[in-house]
Amino acid sequence: MKLTFIGGGTMAEALVRRLIKGGVVEPHQVKIVDTSDVRRELLQREYGVETFCDSTICVEGAEIVVLAVKPQDIEKVASQVGPLREEQVLLSILAGVKLDKLSGYFGHKAIIRAMPNTPAQVGQGMTVWTATAEVSQKRIEQARTVLAALGEELYVPDEKYVDMATALSGSGPAYVFLFVEALIDGAVNIGMPRAMAERLAVQTVLGSTEYLRESGKHPAELRNMVTSPGGTTAAALHELEKGSLRTLIAEAVSAAYAKTRIL
Ligand SMILES: NC(=O)c1ccc[n+]([C@@H]2O[C@H](COP(=O)([O-])OP(=O)(O)OC[C@H]3O[C@@H](n4cnc5c(N)ncnc54)[C@H](OP(=O)(O)O)[C@@H]3O)[C@@H](O)[C@H]2O)c1
Repeated sequence: MKLTFIGGGTMAEALVRRLIKGGVVEPHQVKIVDTSDVRRELLQREYGVETFCDSTICVEGAEIVVLAVKPQDIEKVASQVGPLREEQVLLSILAGVKLDKLSGYFGHKAIIRAMPNTPAQVGQGMTVWTATAEVSQKRIEQARTVLAALGEELYVPDEKYVDMATALSGSGPAYVFLFVEALIDGAVNIGMPRAMAERLAVQTVLGSTEYLRESGKHPAELRNMVTSPGGTTAAALHELEKGSLRTLIAEAVSAAYAKTRIL
């Protein structure tokens, strides 16, 4: 599979690293365009891929052109790339940029829009994606292979779910990091050494989510199992409910969704 990346930043690098290390593509099948000399040198050295500073030359042979620049650079990039061939697919990972906008900028119809998240850096990402009707089945399967390199992938037939996913899996790692930070600070507040609190908090979140997934049970069932009448967990949960944690999280997800719809 021949891939060209427009933008060789953090997310593109995660994809390239995992695709090459996982043997999905060979380094010679990957071209990366980036305006930064430092990035080009690093990507070439680390992964043995060809890098360019000009988009026009290197999209020609690509089956999939992965758009991985910041959303504010899209207009400039679109003017540099020029027209894509009908069978080529533009795969955008730009947060909040809709299919019709991408199609307008690039004058192209075969487009995939994906929303990855940062755990992709360690192959534990969650990517939600959709495609226009003009993307062939062959390219859909190729895109699935590319996105699966980042962790889990989920194709959705309606773009509105990509926007919704932005508010859950896209922004979600930040919610989890905040929760972990709060756990650590809470433990430090009762006298636990910080390093110990960090280790316990991270493993607790990791272990709980893994247990949740493997058990197949509803989270409320697992929560009830560790909540003895009049016990320590019940006392803690009472405080969390008093502080409206559930409503707060629901409002946070709604705020992120509202933002993504006006981007
Ligand atoms: N990071 C994430 O976890 C994450 C998650 C979901 C979605 N996304 C989306 O992924 C996209 C990329 O994010 P990122 O964190 O990888 O960004 P990034 O690290 O800033 O990478 C973008 C790269 O593109 C280069 N660039 C700028 N203009 C260019 C041009 N005209 N032609 C070629 N290269 C150009 C930049 O170079 P300069 O530095 O010289 O400008 C930079 O190296 C964003 O749109 C973001 O919304 C990211």
